[in-house]
Parts: sequence; C-alpha cells; structure tokens
Amino acid sequence: MNHFDYKAETLHCEEVSIKDIAAQVGTPFYLYSKATLSRHFQAFDGSFSVPHITCFATKACSNIAILNLFGSMGGGADIVSGGELFRALQAGIDPKKIVYSGVGKTRDELRYGLESGILMFNVESEQELEALQEVAAALGVQAPVSFRVNPDVDPKTHAYISTGLAKNKFGVPIHEALTVYKRAAAMANINVVGVSCHIGSQLTEVAPFVESLAKVKNFIGRLKEAGCTVKYLDLGGGLGITYNEEEPPAPKEYAKALEDELGALGCTLILEPGRVIVGNAGILVTSVLYTKQGGKKFTIVDAGMNDLARPSLYDAFHAILPVEDRGQGLEKGDVVGPICETGDFLARDKEVPVSRPNDLLAVMSAGAYGFTMSSNYNSRPRVPEILVDGDRFHIIRRRETLDMLIAGEMIPK
Ligand code: LLP
Repeated sequence: MNHFDYKAETLHCEEVSIKDIAAQVGTPFYLYSKATLSRHFQAFDGSFSVPHITCFATKACSNIAILNLFGSMGGGADIVSGGELFRALQAGIDPKKIVYSGVGKTRDELRYGLESGILMFNVESEQELEALQEVAAALGVQAPVSFRVNPDVDPKTHAYISTGLAKNKFGVPIHEALTVYKRAAAMANINVVGVSCHIGSQLTEVAPFVESLAKVKNFIGRLKEAGCTVKYLDLGGGLGITYNEEEPPAPKEYAKALEDELGALGCTLILEPGRVIVGNAGILVTSVLYTKQGGKKFTIVDAGMNDLARPSLYDAFHAILPVEDRGQGLEKGDVVGPICETGDFLARDKEVPVSRPNDLLAVMSAGAYGFTMSSNYNSRPRVPEILVDGDRFHIIRRRETLDMLIAGEMIPK
C-alpha cells in the first residue's frame, strides 16, 4: 500500500497535489511519502517476533532525512562505504545498530568503522580479515566480526543482483568458512560475533531465503561445536516488491518463513531490507518536453538514465502515470530522456500515457535505487528530493546548480 492516489483527476502524494509541487520546485524531482515510508518500515520491522534489528540498506535510498526517519523508529543501517557510514551517523543512527557489508572495504574505511564503534563488520575475505586485524591492532581495539558466507543458493532474480551463487564475488564459500572462523578466533584484535548472508535483491519467493537459512543454520551448528560465539545472525535484505505483476511474499509471510526455519537458534537477527521499504514509497516526476513519431512514438521527457538508471541498466519496468488524468488514454511507444544514447529510456515499447508538451508524468516505484544511482552524466545537475508529510512538503535535497557541476575541478596553470 502506498500514498500516491488520484484526487479529482490529479495525482497526489498524501494530501499534496504533485502538480503544485512541480510548479514550485520545477522538474524533474524525486518525491517520497513519509506515511508510506513509515508504514513500510513498521510493517517489516513489526513482522518479526524474535529479537532483531532492522538495519535499513542505505544504498537503496540514502538521504539523511529518510535515514533519520527510520532511526527514529528504532532502525539501524546496513552500510557499504565510508560515505554511507558518514550519512548514517549524520542522520543520527545509533552506531551500535550499524553493520558494514561489502567486498572491498579500504583500510581507511575499516578505521572509520572502528573509530565510530559500529556493531559489526561483515567480512568477505581472509585478506580483508587480515587488514581489519592490522587496523584494529594499530588503534588498540577489538573489531567485531561476522563473516558473510556464500551459501551457493539461486535467488532467481536478475543476474546483476544475484549475490549468493558460488560464481558471484560475494562472501566466503560456506564450505571453507569454518577454517576462516577458526583463524579469526585466534587473532588478538578480532572478536567473532556472528554470521551473515545476503543472496540477492528483488526476490519474489521465500524458498531461496529459507534454503539459504537452512544452510547457514547448519553451519552455525558446526561453528558452535568449534567453540565460536554466534550472537548475531544477519540475513541480509532482498525481499522484492511489485513493479508490475510480481507477487512477492508480504513481510509477514517472509518473517514467518524465516522464524519457522530459525527455530530456537538464540541469535539476535539482523535484517537489511532496502527496496521493500522504500521502493514503492518514492516516484520520479518528470515533464514532457516534446513528442515525435519516428519509427515509433517517442515521448521525450526532462529526466533521463542519469536520473533513473534502472530501466537502462536492468531493463527494469517502472509504471508511468499521467499526473493529470484527463482521459488521454494510452499508446504504445517509448518514454525517453535527453541523454545522447539509445539506451536512455524510462519505458521501451510499453503502453504509456498519450502526452503533449508540458504534461507531467510520474515514474512509479522509483524510491529504491533511484536517486542513489543517479549521476551527472551529460553534465546534468542531480535532481532534488522532496518529502511529503500529510499536507506539507519539504525539500530534503536541493537541486544541484551548474556551479556544483564543476566544483572541485581545476585547469592546471
Ligand atoms: N544487504 C546487502 C549486503 C546488499 O548487497 C543489498 C543490496 C541489500 C542488503 C539490500 O537489498 P534489497 O532489500 O534492497 O533487495 N541497484 C539494484 C539493486 C542492487 C542491490 C544491491 N545489494 C536495483 O536497482 O535493482
């Protein structure tokens, strides 16, 4: 459920007309509903009955206003870079609820995590473990560690976002992990606290989650026999959403399947949901510049692949709705941006609203991996982010200016 609905033929976000926002801030812009964000966070977090921490996957939507909202609801953060750690801390997230994932953490980033006192590092290789031991020793502290194990489970999702297969770069193969744990346990500045696992994103079935949990559970049994403490079990993120006709399990169903499989393991669960919380809580609003009939019908809008990369990168579907529904109907064609590449499209060969110049279009389900994957390609300033709360809206990130495009650049003398 979300809070984007038509009222008197005009699309609203909660109580605010999207047309009014566009008139005030210009287009394009990302728009989020606070009511939807809160509802989704609560629906997810409230579905688990065992002790757990919901560490929102910062990469999905990293604006500090949004991280702050989840923090105020008891949430933590899953981070994958020093930049995300900085954001999470600036947003007021409790460091003791921050988990640090990723295959390529630099020594500077490891140090920053240690100095910030985060809950744990999800270590993905033996060399990373050695680096962490060195950095922790230099600081004279203990590094809390869980290893990300790779269970070799097929998440049945897009190849680019599958992470739990043996052929993917992620984690330590589960059958080799015991040796690595034993090595870690013997290191002076490493404190083994858990096990983590994340098999992929936009999963629309519970079976792969359960299959991977079964493997991890079995592994935890062996770890305990070997005398390792497993305080935290991090199950990653990955629960999918409806973009089109997908029917992913509801958070309650997902939580129940996991808890049933978990049994009485006695660990605190860490969950790293991203998309399921923010995906359908945000949209991208764009204006029609021109239309033209070439080999097919093209609707040219002021947002492009630099603003929303998902259609170009994954051939992802995002529904496109007219902000003002005057009964214009649909026609088959492409909605394309101003970028100089044929791969620049928001919809390709789809039924899209019949449009004319200056019409506003809403690109739906863009809250996850929308703004965060945007870039300045073609020297286009990044667009603002707007948060609606009831009958008011707040600019939570300003539109970039032309000066910001070249800030930091210089011509050698
Ligand atoms: N935890 C880890 C370690 C991850 O790598 C990810 C996502 C998540 C949690 C959150 O997954 P979620 O709950 O959002 O599925 N850019 C792609 C998605 C990449 C996902 C990367 N990892 C897209 O736009 O579909």
